[in-house]
Amino acid sequence: MNIDNIKKEFPIFNQKIQNNDLVYLDSANSSQKPQVVIDRIYDFYSKEFSNVGRSIHYLAVAATNMYENTRVSVQKFINARDKNEIVFTKGATEAINLVASTFGQKYLKSGDEVLLTELEHHSNYVPWHYLRKSKGVKIEFADVNEEGEVTLESIEKKITPKTKIIAITHLSNVTGAILPIKEITQLAHSKNIPVLVDGCQGAPHLKLDMQDLDCDFYAISCHKMYGPTGLGILYAKKKWLEELPPYQGGGGMIGEVKKEGITYGDLPNKYEAGTMQTAQVIAFDESIKFLNKIGIENISKHENEILMYGEEILRKNNSVKLIGNPKNKGGVLSFTIDGIHPHDIATILDEDGVAIRAGHHCCQILHDKLGLPATARASLGIYNTKEDFDILDKAINKTKKIFK
Ligand SMILES: Cc1ncc(COP(=O)(O)O)c(C=O)c1O
Repeated sequence: MNIDNIKKEFPIFNQKIQNNDLVYLDSANSSQKPQVVIDRIYDFYSKEFSNVGRSIHYLAVAATNMYENTRVSVQKFINARDKNEIVFTKGATEAINLVASTFGQKYLKSGDEVLLTELEHHSNYVPWHYLRKSKGVKIEFADVNEEGEVTLESIEKKITPKTKIIAITHLSNVTGAILPIKEITQLAHSKNIPVLVDGCQGAPHLKLDMQDLDCDFYAISCHKMYGPTGLGILYAKKKWLEELPPYQGGGGMIGEVKKEGITYGDLPNKYEAGTMQTAQVIAFDESIKFLNKIGIENISKHENEILMYGEEILRKNNSVKLIGNPKNKGGVLSFTIDGIHPHDIATILDEDGVAIRAGHHCCQILHDKLGLPATARASLGIYNTKEDFDILDKAINKTKKIFK
């Protein structure tokens, strides 16, 4: 695998950013886009545009076929049993809201418990908080340990007879911890509890197999997978999509509409109300082809190698403190530097073209636990190299000098 050649597929790297080569270490936030994805959006709008699932003219039928083709590509990519288990949403946030709202409406009542973890992104907390407000549902949090992990045991400890759903991250966007989803799902299912996985950080980096993981719901963020913004995916087992009520009402999701009442469309239309993100869905097929061309196992392997190197570099750097040390970990390195606010770190690094993120990374529960208002975070994509971490290291040393 030649990373230089892969990197050349991303036009963002062919320019200087403030007179520097770009060192992009912010892929957990959003990944850069390869030319094929950008071209696909341009071509679709310039030569092939039509809305999908409505008209029967040539362009409309062709666009509908392409849109549905992406659904099949996603199904294969995550090894879902059925293409109708793939629902397009505007992002992972909407995918989780869809489940919280419809599952909450149908199955949750006052006193029922939803089990999350202390690692969760706000997108996997706030939607459940609404149910706490509206229905008196209780939210429990499985503890994160010193290493920044959530173990099977810590989940088990918090399950009670009132636990009605478990909603957990696959890979933490702060500590990088990879949770044992298959084991957690087995445990949950032995107690008849469904499992939702926030797969935002899992899907771009780990080989996914829905039939093997056996979780009930899996939320995906396409803009973190070298795909367009404004697009997410909800994988849900067919039985749930059949049982749960629709999330939004409008055109496209109905069966028959009469003054007396309404029936809903077949799956997955029932969950795709209104004009969908046509161009984004069609272009996302190119992202999947891009991922498949390299091979997700090769991506994981490359990112792991860079992660280990980056970790070693940061550990050697005096006064850099890494957040967590999980045994099973993906490409995220959050850190602090004594006496320097993470926003200042990010600002000085930016002067050298090093793009990282600083803040609470939408994980305030975890940062409260760590006793930190913010951390700096370097996160990986397929285009990162060891040299990126050498440059980061140099830029950190410059930052330390400035603040001495
Ligand atoms: C772990 C995690 N969950 C959820 C989200 C939200 O995803 P989206 O931007 O697709 O709504 C993010 C994005 O930052 C994330 O990292």
